[in-house]
Amino acid sequence: MSKFLVNKYQTIEPYTPGEQPKKGSLIKLNTNESPFPPSPKAVEAIAQASRDLNLYSDPECRDLVSAIAEYYGVETKNVIATNGSDETLAFCFQAFCDENTPAVYPDITYGFYKVFAKLYSVESRVMPLKADFSVDPQDYMSAGGTVFLANPNAPTGIALSLTDVEKIALSNPENVVIIDEAYVDFGGESAVELTRRLPNLLVVQTCSKSRSLAGGRIGFAIGSQALIDDLRKIKYSFNPYNVGALPQAAAAAAIRDREYFEACRASVIENREYTVSELQKMGLAVLPSCANFIFVSPTRVSGQEYFAALREKGVLVRHFTAPRVCDFVRVTIGSREQMDAYLKATKEILEERV
Ligand SMILES: Cc1ncc(COP(=O)(O)O)c(C=O)c1O
Repeated sequence: MSKFLVNKYQTIEPYTPGEQPKKGSLIKLNTNESPFPPSPKAVEAIAQASRDLNLYSDPECRDLVSAIAEYYGVETKNVIATNGSDETLAFCFQAFCDENTPAVYPDITYGFYKVFAKLYSVESRVMPLKADFSVDPQDYMSAGGTVFLANPNAPTGIALSLTDVEKIALSNPENVVIIDEAYVDFGGESAVELTRRLPNLLVVQTCSKSRSLAGGRIGFAIGSQALIDDLRKIKYSFNPYNVGALPQAAAAAAIRDREYFEACRASVIENREYTVSELQKMGLAVLPSCANFIFVSPTRVSGQEYFAALREKGVLVRHFTAPRVCDFVRVTIGSREQMDAYLKATKEILEERV
């Protein structure tokens, strides 16, 4: 740290992204990416768009916003596209939280909420998950702050019902309720439909998971025109060309390629159900996941030991050190071959320890 860093940032603990090892060396099940390549139509769209790279990208992301609006049956004024959904979330912290408006979120959830709260000097009101790791909707009724809920939650994979999302939004008419649906396509219920009649509800999604475009960095939000205009205000005060031309083209094509998207997500869901049932046969505990990852407790070994042993066998998963979850590892659902390699490694690890 230099002596020039301003005081308020000196104690920030930045978000630690999952390891991104060089291709080929490890079976990579640690950052919830899709095991499938992007849609061939997205790849083709990038080639086309690259011819115009001498020009700035469209700051309005018009074609991409139209593709998203068409897919969800909303109007383009209800959509904003960003540089990954992390950027949408950062805009939300800037637009909807301040010294009088804390951020309200669970103790176990996406780690970036805490980092953004610190970055933007916002108080965090942290609500413990229930003993079964589910969100207690009661904790968010009349929350007195901006609510951030990942649904399905990460790293647990557990989803909240749409009825509960609606109750939470209705009970907070003076605050924004942000539903982070990064993983919703793998089994959750999207709240997009509710945004039509709930002006304080904002849905955030990403193309990083179900659209196989993590490297493209595309996120988006859907909500009332007023909320979207607020986010646009932040964007145009920060970086008008925040989404590159190639990611815009890729994401628009990926969203329009419904067949490819449906096939990829169906495979992930099938591989998840297969993996969960194999793990349960081996006696491991797995939380009920609606996402493209599972949260697994090996029971006979610690989470840290399991993580390290898997890595030694060439399988990279994610381990978190927080006390409530340190006995779990989070495993991204990959291809059937990747899941078989993970299951084989797990079986060996358990056998080596009897
Ligand atoms: C719950 C949740 N929200 C948002 C994100 C950010 O995704 P991206 O910035 O790639 O769109 C992630 C990434 O893993 C996540 O787990």
